[in-house]
Amino acid sequence: MPVSTVPLRPVPGPRGVPLLGNLPAFGRDPLGFLVRLRDDFGDAVTWSLGPKRSLFLFHPEHIAEFLAARERTFELLEIGWAFKQLIGDSLILSKGSDWRRKRSLVQPTVRPRQVRAYASAMVECARTAADDWHDGDRIDVRQQMTLITQRIVLRTLFGNDLGDRTRALGEAMAEAEHGIGAELRNMSLFLPGWVRTPGRRRFLRAVATIDAEIHRLIRARQRSGDTADRDDLLSRLLAARDEEGRPLTAKEVRDEAATLWAAGHETTSTALTWTWYLLSRAPEARERLTAELAQVLAGRPPTIDDYDRLRWTRQIIKEALRLYPPAWLIPAVARDGAAVAGTRIPAGTVVWCSQWTTHRDPRWFPEPTSFRPERWDPDAPDPVPDHAWYPFGGGQRTCLGARFAQVEAALLLATLAQRCHLDVAPADPNPSVGLLLQPAAPLHATVRCR
Ligand code: HEM
Repeated sequence: MPVSTVPLRPVPGPRGVPLLGNLPAFGRDPLGFLVRLRDDFGDAVTWSLGPKRSLFLFHPEHIAEFLAARERTFELLEIGWAFKQLIGDSLILSKGSDWRRKRSLVQPTVRPRQVRAYASAMVECARTAADDWHDGDRIDVRQQMTLITQRIVLRTLFGNDLGDRTRALGEAMAEAEHGIGAELRNMSLFLPGWVRTPGRRRFLRAVATIDAEIHRLIRARQRSGDTADRDDLLSRLLAARDEEGRPLTAKEVRDEAATLWAAGHETTSTALTWTWYLLSRAPEARERLTAELAQVLAGRPPTIDDYDRLRWTRQIIKEALRLYPPAWLIPAVARDGAAVAGTRIPAGTVVWCSQWTTHRDPRWFPEPTSFRPERWDPDAPDPVPDHAWYPFGGGQRTCLGARFAQVEAALLLATLAQRCHLDVAPADPNPSVGLLLQPAAPLHATVRCR
């Protein structure tokens, strides 16, 4: 049916309070609120976030339709001043032909063939971190996983050029990410950019450190002209050419490098943190993991050639991404002509879907809160419908680093679990929501060496 003839249908939803709509209920318990929306009103629900009219989608078919239509009939939802300072005009915030050009230039840097070349750095960084762990040590799981993924992203982006600046740069990125999270948590999203709170000043200093370093590396590569021989993301970005043979400008390379860096490590470290938490409570899954690693690797470190054979390892990661999807919410703003779920959507409506609710819907995942990696057996009787599992989003804007992330998570888990198990202390693993779905409190673990 042409979109112009799709009727505007009434869509049910909860009543809100004047001016704020459902914002107070959402703010009190975002994840619980969304589950109640679905249980009480069905697969498509209207609600309002302050004065903004919103539509929430819960059914995988509607989600697929929405994600596929985003480039044509939706706008991106602005995600704050701080995020924009860090990633500039990178592809994440670009639209239309500008986005298509950038995506086509950046995508080839993380194709499977390229990810293959990064695999040995991934394993090496995990081994270096585990060398510092001893039986009985107490560690903060997220801190350690972030340390490893941060080293990996810096190695794959810049090769070995950072040297002893790696630590300072890692700290600058952590400070910048803290600033982005704080903006979301304090709801200071709507403060004009010229307002300089102490937090914003700290944040800007961190971004300036990151900027200066990336520009220094870009200049050094351009001077030496040796990008063709290097196997890192920065060189690939510098060597990329669009259809008309034009390279990215230095500012564009800086923005895409900062984006790959920011998008590419905390997401994966969060996924791994949840994975250790889940494994700590699933002794059988853990034993099967140990057996698989012994059988496939026979004591040697994993390589990319083992990836396909590490089936159970990959199933564990997939199930952890189902239960605790690091990216948990996808919004977009309808333009004229938008239609989803059989209804026309008035321009300006914010349409949302959430991996959290779909991944825990009992219609697609029996016993949805149980950690059952066996659901992902290739021979499982009930295949999961398309877009019932979508931790990496979907449509044309699907996560650019999905392959990178899945290889990284599996190789890290294999490398670390081969040596030890992280016994996560019983703690309240309540997820707290920000840009990512993180454990609300630090997860401490005792290292149990094999
Ligand atoms: C477990 C780890 C990761 C998760 C859960 C994740 C999730 C996502 C999601 C949900 C999106 C939005 C997709 C959409 O709107 O449909 C996204 C976009 C993106 N991700 Fe990831 N991501 C992960 C790792 C990575 C890594 C390792 C990289 C880079 C090496 C990366 C780079 C990007 C980029 C550049 C985009 C923007 C794509 C665009 O707008 O065209 N991500 N990611």
